[in-house]
Amino acid sequence: MVQSSIADPRLLDLATTTVPRYTSYPTAPQFTADVGPETYSRWLELEAVRGGPVSLYLHVPFCRSICNYCGCTTKAALRDDPVRAYARVLKDEIRIIGARMGRIEVSHLHWGGGTPNILPADCLEGLVDLLSETFSFRSDMEHAIELDPRHLTWDGMRRLARLGVNRASLGVQTLDATVQEAIGRIQSWAVVEDAALAIREAGIVDVNFDLMFGLPFQNEASIASTVEQTVRLAPSRYAVFGYAHVPWMKAHQRLIRDETLPDAGTRIAQARLARRLLEASGYHGVGIDHFARANDPLVAAMKNGSLRRNFQGYTTDTATRLIGIGASSISRTPSGYAQNLPDNLGWQRRIAAGELPVARGKTMNLEDRMRADVIEAILCFFEVDLGEIAERHGAGVDLFGPDVVRLAAQMGSTRVRIDGWKVSIERDAHETARLVASHFDGYLHAGGRYSVAV
Ligand SMILES: C[S@@+](CC[C@H](N)C(=O)[O-])C[C@H]1O[C@@H](n2cnc3c(N)ncnc32)[C@H](O)[C@@H]1O
Ligand code: SF4
Repeated sequence: MVQSSIADPRLLDLATTTVPRYTSYPTAPQFTADVGPETYSRWLELEAVRGGPVSLYLHVPFCRSICNYCGCTTKAALRDDPVRAYARVLKDEIRIIGARMGRIEVSHLHWGGGTPNILPADCLEGLVDLLSETFSFRSDMEHAIELDPRHLTWDGMRRLARLGVNRASLGVQTLDATVQEAIGRIQSWAVVEDAALAIREAGIVDVNFDLMFGLPFQNEASIASTVEQTVRLAPSRYAVFGYAHVPWMKAHQRLIRDETLPDAGTRIAQARLARRLLEASGYHGVGIDHFARANDPLVAAMKNGSLRRNFQGYTTDTATRLIGIGASSISRTPSGYAQNLPDNLGWQRRIAAGELPVARGKTMNLEDRMRADVIEAILCFFEVDLGEIAERHGAGVDLFGPDVVRLAAQMGSTRVRIDGWKVSIERDAHETARLVASHFDGYLHAGGRYSVAV
């Protein structure tokens, strides 16, 4: 293992505690078959009565090759046939949802994956046409897509812009050749630069770069040069993710040998270096791992308290309903979460039978909703007013009493300040926010194995 360069033993201790990433609460290990197609169908009909806007997430679980580190739900497709077949089934799922929701208004549309730019042009066009016929796109709708720069063309980008795509996220990860070799993802600077130029030429100005730290053989020099080179392309946002090494869940990660991975202290040092360099280049930190230019709506949302966290990370999307479409995708309504069948074949069979392809989920009770708000506030703002959240839900705040006592005992008063029912993280917030949030997780000890907090 690569040696640590952070000497604070208490911080190292906290940083090696394994906790969920909290892109949802309750988290996926709590989902059960209690939520199936009937329950989800009732939820959708309820939301149709409540009216729009809603957000849509479309999952495209294909890539040309699988990166050794990948934690996403995806598989390799060398040819277009399986992708085309998948796109046809996506259309049927859109029709099934449309039949339950009517022409509901949509404020956000997000294509995630996998690699959505693997979709052949006619498939993408057909899907966007069907979506806009089935639902009512708001004129200011955010239309975002995740892109792999290795498979992006100038023509393809122009086509996406014509379809209304106005936000793009590019998987850059690292520009270090040794690290690229170890992660099975060779991607030259020229490829990244060309992709960024193609996006800009197409007229899409809102661009995010994904970078990673904690990868095999990665060191501070390679983090610095990746940040320094990419800022020259002036993306509007960055997401800087710590590599989550979970080979017990993702077997292909066994291709990454444990002894090549940086230890916890080195991971913290790498994350801090990326933060320092991005801030010095004019980016503002947003939440635990996002960065944006001062005039970006994400920064405004952080300042005015409207910032949210969902499956895609930090967002300005305040819609309380997210409809997931595609194998494995997760939907959220105020009633709870519903996840589609994860395997393409099972998902496809259900849709062929005219059913919603939901496999499992979690109905949310009042306590879940309160805890979800607390966890989201901690991860967005590093502080939370438990009394205000309890009052908003018309419930008593005492529920959180034991959590606060446990939190104070673990973190100590120099890291976390507790003032009545107000909790704020005073030190090392980026490294400890997930851990602090985990104290308000009512299910944490009920099972699940996670990656380290940093
Ligand atoms: C769907 S991919 C982005 C689009 C495209 N597939 C690509 O890689 O260029 C989403 C992002 O998740 C991040 N990611 C994937 N596996 C990860 C892991 N094991 N730990 C942390 N982040 C990971 C990467 O930064 C990646 O860019
Ligand atoms: S990181 Fe992106 S390109 Fe690589 S396997 Fe995962 S989803 Fe596919």
